[in-house]
Parts: sequence; C-alpha cells; structure tokens
Amino acid sequence: MVKNRKPIIAGNWKMYKTATEAVAFVRNLELSVAGMDDVEVVVCPPFNALVPVVEALRGSRIAVGAQNVHWEDQGAFTGEISPGMLKDAGCRYVIIGHSERRQFFGETDVNVNRKVKAVLQHGLTPVMCVGELIEERESGITEKVVRAQTEAGLAGLTAGQVAGMVIAYEPVWAIGTGKTASDADAQQVIGYIRGLVNQLFGGEVAAQVCIQYGGSVKPQNTASLMAQPDIDGALVGGASLDVESFTGIIKAAAGN
Ligand code: PGA
Repeated sequence: MVKNRKPIIAGNWKMYKTATEAVAFVRNLELSVAGMDDVEVVVCPPFNALVPVVEALRGSRIAVGAQNVHWEDQGAFTGEISPGMLKDAGCRYVIIGHSERRQFFGETDVNVNRKVKAVLQHGLTPVMCVGELIEERESGITEKVVRAQTEAGLAGLTAGQVAGMVIAYEPVWAIGTGKTASDADAQQVIGYIRGLVNQLFGGEVAAQVCIQYGGSVKPQNTASLMAQPDIDGALVGGASLDVESFTGIIKAAAGN
C-alpha cells in the first residue's frame, strides 16, 4: 500500500545538549541527511537552544520544534513560554502532552487541549502525544486510554486544524526502555487512532493527519514500523541525540 502522507521524523532531545552542542549537532545533521527529501526532519532542542539552532539551520529544510508551551499569549506565568514566543523564535512544531510532562509535571488532557488550540492559533503544528502505561496495557484498556486522551486533546478543533496536525502514539512503557512496541501492536493502536479521527472529523481528515509512533525507535526497527499502513513517522528520544543513529532512522523512513 502506498501512503501519500510524507513521513515526519522528529527528534525530542528532552533536557539534553547545551546550545553550543545543539548547533554543532544540527550542522552535522544537515550534511548527513542531504538528499533525503522524502522525509520531513524536525529537531526539538531545549528552549535555550531554539534561537541558535534556528539560526544555524537558516536556509535548511530541517525544521525546529519546542518540547512544551503555555496556552496563554503572555502574562505572569513564571518559567513558562508562549506560542507567540516560539513562533518568533522560528519554531514550526511544538510537542504537547509528552508522557514525561503528564507524569512529572501534572499535564492534564484539559491543558493539552488548551495548548493544542493555542499553538494552532499561532500557525504552529502541534505534535500531540498519547499513550498508555504498562498497567493499562496489561489490563486491556489501551484503546480506552488512548481514546480518552485523543478525544480530549482534539476537543473543539476544526476538521482543517486536525488535518494539519501531528499525533504521536507513544506507549509509555516503550519510552527510553529499549522495548519497542511490535510493528503489529503499533499499527493496531495507530490504526485505531486514525479510525477515531475518522469518526470525529471525517474520512478526509483521517487520511491526512500524520500519526507517528514513538518509543525506543532505532535505525534497526524503523523500516518495518514505517512500512505499516497507518504509521507516518516517528518521535525519537534517545536515538535522536546522535547524528549517526538519527540519520539512520531518517534514511530508513525515506525507504518507505
Ligand atoms: P525514546 O523516547 O526514543 O528514548 O524511547 C521517545 C520519546 O520520549 O519521545
């Protein structure tokens, strides 16, 4: 089956790399991925590195994303950053609702929804993360959990907004553990999410929305994940911190 959605491979650097290291990294990455134009490549450095990385990538087709955002435009919210500030810094994508934010920083579905709406209003592309805990998978409620997160996160959006966004399915037990979901399990849940988007926003939107897999993606497991009919790319943590392994993932995604 030929997919007409361009795969998006995004590197979530979490709290790794100084601005100096980030700039050196993207200069190498740019050379390393030259010619792999069939894949959209995104790097998401920590906030302090956003501007220098955007500068270093000027004229490049590698896009830059942030790892979090506040939903208000401005105000007395110490330690937060607004969608307009990220836009002004040159970001194009924003990761929202990553499981580490849900787990360690009290991120809720309601706030995820506020953030998704806010970044869309500023012309940024949300990468909205959903995924179940190991206990939830073991008790057979994966679809229920993913459904609740997806419905709440997308509440109140227009069909056009959803068509242009990215959803990342990241089973929490697969993040940073070396345990990737099997191709079949990842496809099953991502196919389910696409079906849900179909029910909520219609077939055209479901055919357009980009749905990534995330959780221990490596060069060796990328091609078979990307060959699944509903998987449109990957949100990569650990393996995105090294130019060689991140390039290996992009190369494997370009082969599909
Ligand atoms: P990982 O992280 O690739 O290191 O498992 C993925 C993520 O947290 O987005």
